[in-house]
Amino acid sequence: MAKQRSDRPGTGGGTRRINGRLLARLIGAASVERPYYLSIARAISGLVLDGRVPTHTRLPAERDLAAALGMSRNTVTAAYAWLRDNSFLDSRQGAGSWTVLPDSAVQDPSPFAPATEHIDLGVAAPPAVDGLREASFHASEQLAAHVGGIGYYPYGLPELRHAIARRYVERGLPTTPEQIFVTNGAQQGVTLAMELLVQQGDDVLLESPTYPHGLDAARRNGARLRTTGVTPQGWDMEYLVDAFRQWKPAVAYMIPDFHNPTGALMDDDERRVLVREARRANAHLIIDESGAELAIDSGDLPSPVAAHDTDGRVLTVGSVAKLFWGGLRVGWVRATAPMVTRLMGVRQRFDLAGSVHDQLTATHLLADVMRIRAERSRQLRRNRDALLSALRERLPDWRSSVPGGGLVLWAALPQPMATSLATNAVRHGVHPAAGPIFGADGTLERYLRLAYTRPPEVLVDAVDRLAAAYAETLAHPSQPRGRLYV
Ligand SMILES: Cc1ncc(COP(=O)(O)O)c(C=O)c1O
Repeated sequence: MAKQRSDRPGTGGGTRRINGRLLARLIGAASVERPYYLSIARAISGLVLDGRVPTHTRLPAERDLAAALGMSRNTVTAAYAWLRDNSFLDSRQGAGSWTVLPDSAVQDPSPFAPATEHIDLGVAAPPAVDGLREASFHASEQLAAHVGGIGYYPYGLPELRHAIARRYVERGLPTTPEQIFVTNGAQQGVTLAMELLVQQGDDVLLESPTYPHGLDAARRNGARLRTTGVTPQGWDMEYLVDAFRQWKPAVAYMIPDFHNPTGALMDDDERRVLVREARRANAHLIIDESGAELAIDSGDLPSPVAAHDTDGRVLTVGSVAKLFWGGLRVGWVRATAPMVTRLMGVRQRFDLAGSVHDQLTATHLLADVMRIRAERSRQLRRNRDALLSALRERLPDWRSSVPGGGLVLWAALPQPMATSLATNAVRHGVHPAAGPIFGADGTLERYLRLAYTRPPEVLVDAVDRLAAAYAETLAHPSQPRGRLYV
């Protein structure tokens, strides 16, 4: 797709500005590496590719950035020239320079649309399961029974609310349909729950790393973000307890089921402690269960976090996106019935109801959920194992998580270089997600998240490309050192 030329400065487009001080801070310690101009240029291209400096952002004048970095203007002139040569910057006499993405990188402003011949390991969304088309045909037939009505179901289609509630009962958590509020995907559920529960200036506790749009939802409401660490080995429960006691957050947003991005699974005792601490702090818990039905390895799964709830402080967000298909925009929040009513009130500021056809389709598929879970699990196991063995063979100094479920690996690199590696990888036609995307503060430069939603042969090819990009990055290191990385 062609670049959005109409967004150029001076042509009426939506250009933003970044001042020299702020850009210098984001570049950070990268500028201490020689040659300085290249370090600065690579840091800026990495910020653009990670979405931390948006495209169409007007960069500061060379002298302003030079002053903020404490460097000569010639160094910044050379850095901007490199960015221009590598198509990360467009300039026009008198109008300044603004960020763009190069032809070889992601062209579309949407993170979901890398060039078609590229391998996207950044977005964790599998293709639809078998049976989706049939379910959709059934749904079309069933629409006949609905078209005489108004078609708005503000709480969700009754039969779908029943089916979702039944699934919780099967998982050991008594639930009535009145406790289910159907949304257009889990993201809407998280956003509405934050909207309802977070006031400007409230502390919100999140995991680091975490799902980036969870961070977005908290930021939107003016929350102060507080984080507690999680690794593939799990949660540091002492730190987590301390975080609740110190900050008394209004809300904690957590992903205990095949955590995105580390793959960690919280055990029953830890879930009990989590709810106990939330109660002590008088915090609400938003529990994102969008990965809960994605177990890969067999074994007993812990009860849902809400099973430990005694006073209605847990809001559980679920979705069919990962189990069935992301194109089916159906998610939900499970909460107390009064809370469901309040969520519905908030929703009406944004939209009024979900698609009846999608909800009918989801209801059909939920009737077959055990078969579908088994199919997804087989597929993900095959993909995960292929990716792990390719990584072990081609990139033996990387250390990867071995998740028992979910869609992603969290790979630790020997050095903090994720952003420049991800930048180089794009030139090799593969898109990993660099660790800082999953943090609140630009840390996590030692990590990459790799989705295993593509078939094994594609993943093996992707690892070859990653290995080439890694060799290139090692040969031209340019990423920050000396900052605090986890
Ligand atoms: C943890 C988590 N929450 C929410 C979502 C959004 O899901 P949905 O497509 O149902 O909105 C995702 C999708 O990647 C996710 O990984």
